[in-house]
This record gives sequence, C-alpha cells and structure tokens, in this order.
Amino acid sequence: MSWVTKTLSSTLGRKLLMALTGLFLILFLVVHLAGNLQLLLPDNGKSFNLYAESMATNPLIRIVSIGNFAFIILHVIYSILLTQLNKKSRPIGYVESAASTNSTWSSRNMGILGTIILLFLLVHLKGFYYEIKFGEMPMVDIAGVTYKNVFAIVAAAYSNVLYVAFYVLCMGFLAFHLSHGFASAFQTLGLNHVKYSPLIQKVGIGFSILVPVLFALIPIVMYIQSL
Ligand code: HEM
Repeated sequence: MSWVTKTLSSTLGRKLLMALTGLFLILFLVVHLAGNLQLLLPDNGKSFNLYAESMATNPLIRIVSIGNFAFIILHVIYSILLTQLNKKSRPIGYVESAASTNSTWSSRNMGILGTIILLFLLVHLKGFYYEIKFGEMPMVDIAGVTYKNVFAIVAAAYSNVLYVAFYVLCMGFLAFHLSHGFASAFQTLGLNHVKYSPLIQKVGIGFSILVPVLFALIPIVMYIQSL
C-alpha cells in the first residue's frame, strides 16, 4: 500500500481530506455569495447576467467548477467513510457520554445537517445549474449582444413563496453545519493554538451566521420585489 492510500484510509487521513475539501467549499461559498449578491442591484439583472456569462465562458472558471463538484463528492464520500471508521473503532459507545454537555448540537448532527445540505444542492442544481446548461433559457439583449437571462429564471423561482421558504430553512441548516465545520477544519489541520483558537472560533461563528443570512436575504428580497 502506498503512503497516499495508507494516509487516506486512516482516520487522520480521512479527517484531513474532510477539512481540506470543507475549506475549499467554504471559499467557494464566499465567491458564490459575492456573485449572487449582484442579483439585488437595481439594474434589472444586467450586472448579474454579464457575470453569469463570464462565469460560463471563462476556461479557468470551468476548471474550478469541475474541481468544485469533485470536492463536493469527496467531502460526502469521506464523511460516510469516517463515520464507518468511527463506528468500527467504538461499536458500543461511551458508557458515560453526557453528549449534550460535552459537545454542541451541530457537532453531534453533522451527518444529518450534511445530508440536508446535499438534498438542498440537488434541488438547487436542478433548478438553476441544469436549467442554465441544458434547459430552454429566456434571452436578453444587453448593448446589442444577446445573453442568457439567468436573472429571469432566478427571479421566477423566487416569486414562489414555498421555494423561498425552502431556501431560507436550508440556509439555517447550512449555518449550523458551518458553525462546527469551520473550527473543526482548523483543528484537524493542527491550527489550534492557545492564542489563536478563540479568534478562529469567533471568526467561524461570525462567518457561519453572516454567509447564510446574506444567502437567505437574496430570495427574501427578490420575493418582496416580485409582489
Ligand atoms: C440565494 C442563494 C443562491 C443563489 C441565488 C444561487 C444561484 C446559483 C446559480 C444561478 C447557479 C448556476 C450558475 C451557472 O452555472 O452559471 C448556481 C450554481 C451553484 N450553486 Fe448556487 N446559489 C445560491 C446558494 C447556494 C448555496 C448556499 C450553495 C451551497 C451550499 C450553492 C451551491 C452551488 C453550486 C455547487 C453550484 C454549481 C457551481 C459550479 O458550476 O461549479 N448555491 N447557484
């Protein structure tokens, strides 16, 4: 067995992979949020449509996108493998665990939270990604050039109150998943120092509130605008 296979089949190797893919996905979330906030600009979707076009045609972004999907799949597969390994090494569990006092609710429910986020992603990708790539898209003219009107399909989706409620609820679950994932990733990478841990924890909590709140704000504002 090579050292790579050996590392990736050990608990530490699996934790490392979870941490690294998780941190990449956190970075993706920041970039995705910054792009999506353009949906709220008062220009009838012009900036967002130009941004969507540049994302779809830039070869570098296409490579990052493939990496993104690969990291999502790896993150999911390794979460299952890690859970299996943990169960194998402690099939009976602790006699005195007092889980609710020793650990947070998020840390004990990362699997359930991750599964909900995965289901959210499937709905999200079908609604937007798939439609943009393979669906029949409305088109828009911007300065004499015809573009896919991505803004129109997002606005149409967020005119449905049930869809908006689903997004807002899922952003709540994302907040809990991030609140444990952020600090946990830094801890796995050995970046937990007496001096810096409290700061990392505070930044993690701030991030896990701010990012989902801003994501949730987009469908809420667009729904109000559609009334
Ligand atoms: C209001 C919130 C959101 C909006 C309006 C939004 C919008 C979009 C749109 C329009 C696309 C298609 C982009 C394209 O292919 O040109 C997309 C792709 C995607 N979204 Fe979102 N999104 C939101 C939240 C999220 C969240 C919270 C996640 C993750 C938990 C997420 C994950 C993804 C992924 C993985 C893709 C595929 C990106 C790729 O091509 O690599 N999105 N989103």
